[in-house]
Parts: sequence; C-alpha cells; structure tokens
Amino acid sequence: MKRRTFLSALPLSLAFLVPGVVHGTGQAMTVYKNSWCDCCHGWAEAMRKAGYSVTTVDMDDLSPIRKRAGVPAAMEGCHSAEIGGYFLEGHVPPEAVAKLLAERPDIGGLAVPGMPLGSPGMGDDPKATYEVFALPRDPTAAATVYYRAGEQP
Ligand code: CU
Ligand code: CU
Repeated sequence: MKRRTFLSALPLSLAFLVPGVVHGTGQAMTVYKNSWCDCCHGWAEAMRKAGYSVTTVDMDDLSPIRKRAGVPAAMEGCHSAEIGGYFLEGHVPPEAVAKLLAERPDIGGLAVPGMPLGSPGMGDDPKATYEVFALPRDPTAAATVYYRAGEQP
C-alpha cells in the first residue's frame, strides 16, 4: 500500500526537477479538437507535459469555438484551446503560452495557422522554425508576430 502511494506520487514530483522545461503549474486549459486528430492529441499531451491541467473536449465541428473566440479563417489550425481568458489556435508551442501568460497582453489569443512540421504534436522538433501570431480582440484588426519558434536566443 505504501509503495503504491509512493509510486503514484513520483511522476508529479519529478516533473519539477526537469531542467529547461517551462511549467504551467497546473493552470487549467481546455482543448477543443476532433476525436480522430492525432496531432491534436499530441499537442494536448505536450501541454500536459508543460504542466498545464488539460481538459480535452472532442467535437466534430470547431467552427462555433473559433467564431466565439474571433479566430479569422486565415489563422485557423487544427484545434482550439482556451487558457486564462485567451484562445490558442493550432500548434502553439508551450514557450509562447508561457510568454503570453507572463506578459498578459491585451489581445484575444495566439495562433499558429496550418500545421507546421516540428511544432508540438507535429514532430516536436525544438529547432523547427515557424511564427506564432498575436490576434487582437477585434478580429478585423491585423495579426502581429508574437513569437518565433526555433529562433529564440
Ligand atoms: Cu494538427
Ligand atoms: Cu490539432
């Protein structure tokens, strides 16, 4: 009994000892995705590994979620998520999520349109380069580059 308690507590305590990993400290995140989407599942797992408390919601049609969040068609990825009052569209890397939550800019959320190879859930290559866009609350206003994956110092 005691051994079992110890073992089940182990992964959680070890998670805080891994160097160089950005930790979400258990903050709640909801991921909306299609049940058959493997890379969406991979992204949700990457967010769990980064320390977020992820709840996944499988749905066939994500367009109501994107409409509510104000994600323009050109910025669509394969899944949508919500954390701390922001939306995350597509394969946004955990480093960009951590930056967003630390800086708390006055925007609607972040988006990685399409499915860049090497992003979390799409091969998980830390050297992969792609852009993460900040999307204003006003969906008609222009998006700006918020974070460049693979090009950080
Ligand atoms: Cu994907
Ligand atoms: Cu996805």
